[in-house]
Amino acid sequence: MKITYTHELPANKKGDALVIGVYEGLKNLTKEEVTQLKSLNFSGKLGEVVTVPSTENFKTLIYVGLGKKTELKTDVVRLAAAKGIKSAKRIKAKKVVFELFGADKLKEKAAKALAEGIVLGNYSFNKYKSKEEEKFELEKVTVAGEKEYKKDFESGYVLAEAANFTRDIVNEPGNVVTPEKLAEIAKELSEKYGFKCKVFKEKELEKNKMFGILTVGKGSKNPPRFIHITYKPKNPKKKIAIVGKGVTFDSGGLNIKPEQFMKTMKSDKAGACAVLGIMKAVGELKPDVEIHALIPTVENMPGGKAYRPDDIIVYKNGKSVEIHSTDAEGRLILADALIYGSELEPDVMIDMATLTGACVVALGHYTSGLFTNDDKLANTFLKLSAETGEKMWRMPLDEDLKEDIKGAYSDLQNVGKTRYGGAITAALFLQNFVDFEKVKSWAHIDIAGPAFLNKEWKYYSPGATGQPVRTVVEYIVLEN
Ligand code: BES
Ligand code: ZN
Ligand code: ZN
Repeated sequence: MKITYTHELPANKKGDALVIGVYEGLKNLTKEEVTQLKSLNFSGKLGEVVTVPSTENFKTLIYVGLGKKTELKTDVVRLAAAKGIKSAKRIKAKKVVFELFGADKLKEKAAKALAEGIVLGNYSFNKYKSKEEEKFELEKVTVAGEKEYKKDFESGYVLAEAANFTRDIVNEPGNVVTPEKLAEIAKELSEKYGFKCKVFKEKELEKNKMFGILTVGKGSKNPPRFIHITYKPKNPKKKIAIVGKGVTFDSGGLNIKPEQFMKTMKSDKAGACAVLGIMKAVGELKPDVEIHALIPTVENMPGGKAYRPDDIIVYKNGKSVEIHSTDAEGRLILADALIYGSELEPDVMIDMATLTGACVVALGHYTSGLFTNDDKLANTFLKLSAETGEKMWRMPLDEDLKEDIKGAYSDLQNVGKTRYGGAITAALFLQNFVDFEKVKSWAHIDIAGPAFLNKEWKYYSPGATGQPVRTVVEYIVLEN
């Protein structure tokens, strides 16, 4: 799909469909339009969409509801734009024009959100479908709006494309995207944008004492990797490390998952893929911030060499961990990455991971858990997340729960003594591997809920969402 922004009025454009945003109460429409829309039960409520045949420049007019004008926000524009593009796809329109809606209230933010809504809403993962009719793609989308908002539209486009890049990798199954393949994707991306990219294979993993990655990786025929991408501008104002959990498939290992929980575990690499998506946006936007992208990647399988409950790992920072469940593997590989990340002495280190089912129990499927030692960072993220629609909620690093992950024969155990507070004990576990003498602020985002959805939600189709790419990129740009 080609997408362009123009300041020409839609009336001068021709195409298969024109998408028009309408507030509740159907203001600013002609009498005929109001009568017609009312007869179609369209009242402009958020989420409503109708198609009306037309004989003028466009074959079809698509009206999308924006809800009450007083309640308009960026996420409403995204959702309405997505409804419009999905409707255009359904009627197999090839050339579609959008009139920029919401700019009367949100100004430049509307242009950005509209781009995001169109690009995110247009996404589908259909490369493995063999029937042509299941692969229909729009040819050309034109958005008509004020000249001054073109930049904003383009930045929204970059953010959404980065999220879709992430979705494309997450949606690939475990037989296609192995740790090795993930490393290849990282290398290709780095080549395209001129980043430095190091990939550690077994030998280098040993040399760097990355025993978490090596241990979890043992049960699979697909060997583990550690990926380090560096983006270094001339005069960086800050140094940020981003870390993503890259379990290309989580069977649970010897503590094997029951079937209803194993299905969709191709998505256990969503944190890693988000890091790659963020780097794509960094390559496009070139902020004045030094970024280190760190990805520990393994396949968690129960092969003959697999690690087992009772095993003890001694980490590079001296901490020992006994294994209580091979299914709590994410924290084990992230530990290596957080130690490595600390050594880079970044101002801020942010990890993102589909870490715990407990986080989904706590917050539901649509909200990520945000853990951080830095109140200011927490507030920045919560504010950004409210704007991007990638919902986050701050969770506590409750000191009293530290007792729960104290090991019997070692410093730590990889699972809490009870199930209660499972997302928190996982975060507390990670905290042990951040060296706070070298890193000022650390944030951990548990994306187990929102990274991958089983049903359509907002602008997302079922499958990977690309969260939290847009929020983290906004954060990086802000630090710029
Ligand atoms: N990858 C899972 C967490 C997960 C669950 C992600 C649901 C996405 C959706 C993680 O490795 C895991 O299995 N965690 C266990 C931890 C437990 C053994 C302490 C869990 O959440 O059950
Ligand atoms: Zn697991
Ligand atoms: Zn996992």
